Amino acid sequence: MDTKQVYNDNAQKWLRLKPSSLSDFTARPLVFDACGDVTGRSILDIGCGEGYCARELKNRGASDYLGIDLSTEMIAAARSQEAIDQYGIEYLACNIVEFTPTRKFDLCIAVFLFNYLQVEPMQKVFSMVYDALKPNGNFIFSVPHPFFPFVRTEQSAPFYFESSNKNYFSDVNKKLEGEIWKRNGESLHVQCVHKTFSDYFDNLKLAGFNKMPEIKELTVTPELAKLDETFFSPLLNEPLHVLFKVSK
Ligand SMILES: C[S@@+](CC[C@H](N)C(=O)[O-])C[C@H]1O[C@@H](n2cnc3c(N)ncnc32)[C@H](O)[C@@H]1O
Repeated sequence: MDTKQVYNDNAQKWLRLKPSSLSDFTARPLVFDACGDVTGRSILDIGCGEGYCARELKNRGASDYLGIDLSTEMIAAARSQEAIDQYGIEYLACNIVEFTPTRKFDLCIAVFLFNYLQVEPMQKVFSMVYDALKPNGNFIFSVPHPFFPFVRTEQSAPFYFESSNKNYFSDVNKKLEGEIWKRNGESLHVQCVHKTFSDYFDNLKLAGFNKMPEIKELTVTPELAKLDETFFSPLLNEPLHVLFKVSK
């Protein structure tokens, strides 16, 4: 399935002003924490979608903010919300693989973008991010945990990727189709172009990121399971996502 089409068709389902999908609880709050104090900091948000993370980081004090997304409908949804909020967020519809920055940023975030890119384009984007960051700037991104599609093979709520007959090493760059659920019972179509842990580490290094990245493996915690047993508990302690934080 074509990624741009998937997001153009579902932009209205993605638009949200408060946490709704599984990863709004299991991943995005940890991305925001990893960003630390963003007061006055400039942010490049690649694969920004309809602007959920942009609005949150602007609320937390970010200054210059550029959000970029492939889907014209996701960007249209982001701009409609921006017309109401007037946060001063700049949005651009563009394939990130073809983007060349014209200014520098303190921080770059990519929240579930790289699961849409094969290794080679991801490498190109890592290099672009390295160039776009100011000295000591941070790059923070989240991706599905590389083991998740192989550990969780049941195709059911609240999250899965279809991985039948796929192998962790030989099926790098293959696109796995999946779904992630919102707490209201609605599901969103998502995709994962499979990559191994080594692919992320090797390509960060190739792009010039020579400092050791911090990584966090994210899951459904017992606290989340307590909050909404029916929704969260099927994934209690499963390896869901990985958060990378690396500085230039
Ligand atoms: C799972 S959504 C996440 C959106 C947003 N970061 C969030 O956290 O709500 C992934 C986004 O990546 C975008 N995307 C996928 N491939 C892209 C590409 N090559 N260039 C720019 N954006 C891309 C999709 O259009 C989609 O909006």
